[in-house]
Amino acid sequence: VSDYYMEPYRPQFHFSPEKKWMNDPNGMVYHKGVYHLFYQYYPEDIVWGPMHWGHATSTDLVHWKHKPIALYPDEHGLIFSGSAVVDKQNSSGFGTVENPPLVAIFTYHLMEGEKAGRTDFQTQGIAYSLDNGDTWEKYKGNPVIGNEGIKDFRDPKVMWHEETGKWIMTLVAGDHAKFYGSKDLKNWELLGEFGKDKGAHGGVWECPDLIPMKVNGTDEERWVLLISINPGAPNGGSGTQYFVGDFDGKVFTTDQTETKWIDFGTDNYAGVTYNNNPEVDPIFIGWMSNWTYARDTPTEEWRSAMTTPRKLKLKKLNGEYQLFNYPIEGVDDIVNKKETAKIEVAPSQMESLSSDNFNQSEIRFKTSAQDFELVFGNSAKDELVLAMSGKQKTFFLDRSKSGKVDFQEDFGKGVQQMPVPFLPEGEYEVRILVDWSSIEIFINEGQYVMTSQIFPNGNYTGLIIKNTGENVLQCNGFQVNEVSR
Ligand code: FRU
Repeated sequence: VSDYYMEPYRPQFHFSPEKKWMNDPNGMVYHKGVYHLFYQYYPEDIVWGPMHWGHATSTDLVHWKHKPIALYPDEHGLIFSGSAVVDKQNSSGFGTVENPPLVAIFTYHLMEGEKAGRTDFQTQGIAYSLDNGDTWEKYKGNPVIGNEGIKDFRDPKVMWHEETGKWIMTLVAGDHAKFYGSKDLKNWELLGEFGKDKGAHGGVWECPDLIPMKVNGTDEERWVLLISINPGAPNGGSGTQYFVGDFDGKVFTTDQTETKWIDFGTDNYAGVTYNNNPEVDPIFIGWMSNWTYARDTPTEEWRSAMTTPRKLKLKKLNGEYQLFNYPIEGVDDIVNKKETAKIEVAPSQMESLSSDNFNQSEIRFKTSAQDFELVFGNSAKDELVLAMSGKQKTFFLDRSKSGKVDFQEDFGKGVQQMPVPFLPEGEYEVRILVDWSSIEIFINEGQYVMTSQIFPNGNYTGLIIKNTGENVLQCNGFQVNEVSR
């Protein structure tokens, strides 16, 4: 075990950089048995600075190997967020059909341009690798998309669109998304725009992702558009909304009127899905932080982690599309399953459990109850409160007394809320993953999800289950599992 895993708050089963600052996941692509994770990285400090692409690889999305920095800033600017594709037909000419190139498509951010008050400081560039991501060559003709004066113009996500035989790029321009098409990844043509009058606009649009998905596992195809926005998330600061609609090869359209969020916790941002994913369900990873306090969290050698990799499912329930997100099966392999118990608590009563490692655990049970509270605590008198209220059709997360909170004024403020309008009537699963400085809550296998950072002053050693309803609270198959790496 490397030393850095011993640092306070260091996640044990979530990806974090060995040292220094990380933000968005980038260039997520599967190639020759390897999942690549690139990420926004500043190798000099634990606060945001001139961006590089850090790099890690995995064969199971759970165990990661740190790799050398993949992309460094150059004369066109810093390397902001973007995506990567396997160019199987060698459409770009960077490789051969036998050894297809990996092509990264990213935003160049020209700091001097921004400082000089210009609006054209973000452009799009590409780079390629012929050795499965180990080394990268920037394209000599960069930038491939210039900028005619759009202040926020970034985060290209590229996919292959079979029907039109084109690469499709989705990128964001402040308050809307733009779609471009290309035959060779070098020459791009603007195809359409979406979103000025749709969805949440409390902040700038960032990190789009356009994903074809099957509804309820049938043949009905819809397109999902993920858009991160900062600020303007339901519990403050950064968050990710999604739209369900159609894509005709040029433009995304939807008749969706309400705003939908993939995760109601404060700490799941800039998430996108894998390209060339070998499985049916798209795999999503988000940055487990929030721009409101990302620079202030109490870690010393590194900052922040990624969410667990989650598979997405699109379901139509009660006449509404809902995007489920739930840990991939690979996460189960690192959970040491303990015996299950049945826990019964009378109305207004509580049950106390203890463990020395709630900080690195999975808590999982089934219940049909809709009114209960779960409180994690320790000898330092920290309390992290989760509450399901069927009466209010809301799930609450209160971290105001969960440990260190005053490193920034908003971190401990208020109670995070998530509407749960369509909880199943019968039994459903509650699954919680705690990894030292984060908690992820999945209700009904990803129908309702909250991800939140926490910084307890000591190990959580107690878990209180309170019955806040009128009937006996039954938790079936109750497990407190250790999660190893
Ligand atoms: C999202 C974001 C992106 C940008 C990157 C810069 O968190 O602001 O829009 O490309 O971070 O690091």
